[in-house]
Amino acid sequence: MKHKVSEEESERWKVGNEDEKGFWLGLTEEDLLAHERGHRALAKQIDLGIQIRGLRDDFRGLQIGCAVEDTIFFVEGGSLYAVDPLAEFYKQHFERARNPRVDYREGVGEVVPHEDDFFDLVICQNLLDHVANYDVVLDEVKRVLRKPNLLYFGTDVYTSESAEVRWKRQESGEIFDIQHPHTFTVETLETVITGHGFEIVERLPTQPSGKGDDSTRHCFFAIYP
Ligand SMILES: C[S@@+](CC[C@H](N)C(=O)[O-])C[C@H]1O[C@@H](n2cnc3c(N)ncnc32)[C@H](O)[C@@H]1O
Repeated sequence: MKHKVSEEESERWKVGNEDEKGFWLGLTEEDLLAHERGHRALAKQIDLGIQIRGLRDDFRGLQIGCAVEDTIFFVEGGSLYAVDPLAEFYKQHFERARNPRVDYREGVGEVVPHEDDFFDLVICQNLLDHVANYDVVLDEVKRVLRKPNLLYFGTDVYTSESAEVRWKRQESGEIFDIQHPHTFTVETLETVITGHGFEIVERLPTQPSGKGDDSTRHCFFAIYP
């Protein structure tokens, strides 16, 4: 079954995505350098994953939700692509976002602006809780992937207790934590991912989410067999 973004999800998402701009404009160069160190470290792990998984030398890699710059900017080799609904905003305000190695386009994960079977690698770092509809994004990921493929997901998750509280607030229609319309636990996230037919092949050490609450970042490699 193909999933669809509802009107309500779309409206809720627009408010959160607009709010992203202020977050990025508020970062100092020091903050951006700290982000860059994290992106470089993850890119090294992904380089290794590319070797292990035996992707072709001229692989094509995509990062969805790349913000100012992200891991794909530091992956070695291949042809590198990124999409983000705010890509033009980031390029306008940040020199770092204008990386000539990366084809960085404006677009959403729900409608990836590339043809079917185009990518060998897709990175979704700190993305799935931000989007309008993660099922639609995962449908798109499957559409653009070709074999052998490699996926990396890093997603903020909560304990069941905290998640229950957030789900109740969300169900009541309350809008809070504006940039994050979705709440996952490790279990609900993995159920969504495997429910789409992805196979989790390696779980990586949990990372801090950086959100300033009790969430942590659950990270893993997956494939679409
Ligand atoms: C918190 S930032 C994370 C950026 C980066 N991945 C990182 O970890 O530093 C979330 C990014 O996802 C983007 N985003 C939000 N909804 C999206 C969607 N539906 N499709 C693609 N990107 C989206 C936002 O514009 C923002 O740049």
